[in-house]
Amino acid sequence: MQDLKAERVHELGNKVVYQIYVRSFNDSNGDGIGDLRGITQRLDYLAGLGVDYLWLTPFFKSPQRDNGYDVADYRSVEPMFGTMEDFDELSREAAARGIGIMLDMVFNHTSTEHEWFQRALAGDPKYLAYYKFVDAAPDATAENPGEPPTNWVSKFGGNAWRYVPSLNKWYLHLFDPTQADLDWDNPEVRAELEDVVRFWKGKGVSGFRFDVVNLISKPATWENDYEGDGRRFYTDGPHIHEYLQELVREGGIDGMVTVGEMSSTSIDNCIRYSNPECHELGMAFSFHHLKVDYDHGEKWALAPVDLAELRRLFKVWQEDMTAGGGWNALFWSNHDQPRPNSRFGDVDNHWYETTTALAACTHLMRGTPYIYQGEELGMTNPGFTSIDQYRDVESINYYRILQEQGKTPEEAFHIVAERSRDDSRTPVQWTAGPNAGFTTGTPWIGVADNYRTINAEAEVADPHSPYAFYKRLIELRRAEPVIAEGGVEFVEADPLTESEGVISYLRTLGDTRLLVAVNLTGHDAEPFEAQVAEGAELLIGNYDDAPHTDKGRLALRPYEVVALIRR
Ligand code: GLC
Ligand code: CA
Repeated sequence: MQDLKAERVHELGNKVVYQIYVRSFNDSNGDGIGDLRGITQRLDYLAGLGVDYLWLTPFFKSPQRDNGYDVADYRSVEPMFGTMEDFDELSREAAARGIGIMLDMVFNHTSTEHEWFQRALAGDPKYLAYYKFVDAAPDATAENPGEPPTNWVSKFGGNAWRYVPSLNKWYLHLFDPTQADLDWDNPEVRAELEDVVRFWKGKGVSGFRFDVVNLISKPATWENDYEGDGRRFYTDGPHIHEYLQELVREGGIDGMVTVGEMSSTSIDNCIRYSNPECHELGMAFSFHHLKVDYDHGEKWALAPVDLAELRRLFKVWQEDMTAGGGWNALFWSNHDQPRPNSRFGDVDNHWYETTTALAACTHLMRGTPYIYQGEELGMTNPGFTSIDQYRDVESINYYRILQEQGKTPEEAFHIVAERSRDDSRTPVQWTAGPNAGFTTGTPWIGVADNYRTINAEAEVADPHSPYAFYKRLIELRRAEPVIAEGGVEFVEADPLTESEGVISYLRTLGDTRLLVAVNLTGHDAEPFEAQVAEGAELLIGNYDDAPHTDKGRLALRPYEVVALIRR
């Protein structure tokens, strides 16, 4: 038992995952859309950075209503992204560079264009039972369908049920109406999905990311939520652990690199999701730390970043997951979040410091770090100025909904610009040339204007770039076992932690102690006593000179990060 845990820590603690949003990574054929061959062309860049795995967002056959998170066939490649041969070539070439592939499995729902849903629509009882269909009132009509089964709100806005006149039934869609929720209580559905996992495992992939997987188990009865949007009924639902265990067992993926996207989850559940003794997943993404600038928990309402809350969340997720034998996926960024440097820092005045401070803050924690494409270059939000520049279904929906709620178009736009998922979906900035070297055609979404200075070509050649800093962080994780495997503690009584805007923690392994301290503000932090500082060596920092001290106390400058090690 002890060994299973130690082994898993060793296995996951030494790894770094790089997320590729296929559409926006690199376009090989000039149609303006990133594709599989485009990734293969950039493998040397990724090997140079030093990452172990590539998580590819869904490239399966899909109408692309939600950019591939609406899957119409789990076993075939969407032509706009390439062919199965392209995928095989990518896997082979990645393996030749010591890089594994992780696939993104969207198992909470399928596209309504999936054959299963089409058969359900045709009235086939076998396939009706694949989804969450509920009878409508006998006198319901298309014009007057009556009340939906519950008042739950879709994550993309509006009610989460859609009425189908030809069946006189409603079906559940927690996301877009073209993303119909599967019925995981049906063993045939589970068997189908397990088979999909075996199919891709058989093709030699290294691991999987499971999309919104803690939403798959719905309650046995449908009830209105008078306190919220319904999520408390289906998040970490009644049979979730059982279903995950079955998927992992029957899919034959226990011990592979797996990660679940866990929406609005709890630490207790994430311990079970990721403790190797529970035989569920390798690690869990949780999102509470990315809601510290939501006003009263509301995504589409802006509030200043609550740094004290951010620090508290890191503390409990780091310490409590460790205590329970769980394992965190460490990240600030993905294809659903704005760029973290634009969001948590000051890219106008402290672009390099902000970008690197955020990077070190999570990369030196206990867990497995994830880098979202372009993050290692310090890519920022694009600063779009018109709603026509946005492509994302959620952003476009909320631009309308916010106005329906009484916001002016300017106010609605301002909120969307801060919160949109498209903020991180703009093309990767490869060069200072046309379209940032992403495509020779017209990119499907605009490129951020700053690509002339923020781009891979310039940064790979510059030892003082965010790219060079990320590369160093990855090397350090391999070189220093205290980072990969050490314990973690945020010391409450440490005066340091009372210094507003500073996040700091101590990593320990045997006699080795590593102190990480980050100033997430644009001003000098209150100097603090850093015990480890005595006789310690600077492992990494983001200012050119040695850390400043004031009467023996550490004095962090704007967005400064330091990691001090004592062996
Ligand atoms: C996840 C994906 C997101 C998608 C949603 C529905 O949150 O990361 O992009 O829209 O699931 O599949
Ligand atoms: Ca293309």
